[in-house]
Amino acid sequence: MEVFNHKSSSSSSICSFFAFALLGLLLLITTPLATAKVHSHHFVIQATPVKRLCKTHNTITVNGMYPGPTLEVENGDTLVVNVVNRARYNVTIHWHGVRQMRSAWADGPEFVTQCPIRPGRSYTYRFTIQGQEGTLWWHAHSSWLRATVYGALIIRPKQGDSYPFPKPHRETPLLLGEWWDANPIDVVREATRTGAAPNVSDAYTVNGQPGDQYTCSSKDTVVVPMKSGETNLLRVVNSALNQELFFKVANHKMTVVGADASYLKPFTASVIMLGPGQTTDVLITADQPANRYHIAARAYQSAQGASFDNTTTTAVLQYESAACSSRGKCTSQNQKPVSAVMPAFNDTATATAFTTSLRSPKRVETVPTKIDHDLFFTVGLGLNRCPRGARARNCQGPNGTRFTASMNNVSFVLPSNFSLLQAHQQGIPGVFTTDFPARPARQFDYTGNVSRSLWQPSRGTKVYRLKYGETVQVVLQGTSIFTAENHPIHLHGYDFYIVAEGFGNFDRRKDTAKFNLVDPPLRNTASVPVGGWAVIRFVADNPGVWLMHCHLDVHITWGLAMAFLVENGVGELQTLQPPPPDLPVC
Ligand code: C2O
Repeated sequence: MEVFNHKSSSSSSICSFFAFALLGLLLLITTPLATAKVHSHHFVIQATPVKRLCKTHNTITVNGMYPGPTLEVENGDTLVVNVVNRARYNVTIHWHGVRQMRSAWADGPEFVTQCPIRPGRSYTYRFTIQGQEGTLWWHAHSSWLRATVYGALIIRPKQGDSYPFPKPHRETPLLLGEWWDANPIDVVREATRTGAAPNVSDAYTVNGQPGDQYTCSSKDTVVVPMKSGETNLLRVVNSALNQELFFKVANHKMTVVGADASYLKPFTASVIMLGPGQTTDVLITADQPANRYHIAARAYQSAQGASFDNTTTTAVLQYESAACSSRGKCTSQNQKPVSAVMPAFNDTATATAFTTSLRSPKRVETVPTKIDHDLFFTVGLGLNRCPRGARARNCQGPNGTRFTASMNNVSFVLPSNFSLLQAHQQGIPGVFTTDFPARPARQFDYTGNVSRSLWQPSRGTKVYRLKYGETVQVVLQGTSIFTAENHPIHLHGYDFYIVAEGFGNFDRRKDTAKFNLVDPPLRNTASVPVGGWAVIRFVADNPGVWLMHCHLDVHITWGLAMAFLVENGVGELQTLQPPPPDLPVC
């Protein structure tokens, strides 16, 4: 107003003042309506016959769909999702990567922020998307239900905002999944009973379809149409349970523009790697001869000697132009697609080249530089000796042991009577302790030949307490206990900067100098390199109890998790909202 008045004569200034006031009033009335929307959805969790690999299973789905519905919102919008459980299992839904500012009650991990929704019951998740754009996803967070209960969550810029890249002609979500020719709940129950590693999956899938490399699947292969010259924003999600995946489009370069709903400094790649939980947005251009090309994903398997699903899932990128007649009928439907040459299963060099290429688009001012909590967490597997008198059939891990996993030698145990968040908010004693260790009780050569005396962790429900607004650094150090392997470590309720990663043992003196505090990528899931480490930083600006865990479900089953308890700050805006009235009880 001041600048404006300055430049105007007095008479026109009065007139303009009213015009401006009117405009302002109009904006005030219309803006909130036009930009922030509330999206209501109804999710019915139900068993549905799903036929894959020649066999029909009674699969747990949302609304009978596998994968489940895609949710599309704009940054700033609110989601209200009423979940009704008509299945025979307990269930919860987690909105993976959503920051859930002050709304931890809607985060979803079973026994962490809520008790499970029992069969026949329901719960409504309410939350607002704040400052996130790109691709996230949602999935069940109870037992192994997320094998089939998952879907995409697409967050576009608010009206008036645009992508930081030319608007693509098309957008295609590609959810990479993992299919068992069995009931996944039976698979995990069997593993828990025997103590052995669970059976590996029988197929990977793209949007629920295995593709043309599997029996009985070819005719249902997912087709992604494109016209010559067009660009397509592929929103790739690794929703597999237990496997890091390489992803590639035959003969097409990808421009990587985002990950985990944060933009990246664009770079080109011919192959990308995603750990379970991670998303990557890439642009492809139809700049190749009109044809059919494979879109393919298969395992990045970092653990040596372990069995894994070595199959390849495919979809088809199909050019519509030259391959089709003027009447729009394609003549090339049955033509064999150009295949994608995938990296070797154990190609850690390619995986590392990708993860270390990620940068924020510009210099970030928000990387914490003064650290209040300097934490060091080991992440890895373990083996429990079998108790005397235990039956051999319950000890079918290596040499008659049972598999386990831990962070800082604590194997995480979920409570069963209250959720951690409820216990914290209502001051219920005896549910958890606040003594999760800031560093391992004993230092050792983490990635070397680890003494057998360190292979058996203790069990506990321990959280690490943070005050509102404190800054945190966590060195996530992989171990070689039993076997070294890449661990996708996911933190609920936060995005964190990945300031460095490397191989071997983290060396504070040497490695601190390599930290990228200028333009590190912002993510919710970090790939901790096999036999290596990653360093993350975040500000504890979201009160609640937040699970941090390996997103390989087999590892969370074995206890590779911990939780941060973030206290309320001052005033309403720094305080956890009250629990919703329909919050499930245990
Ligand atoms: Cu995507 Cu705790 O999970």
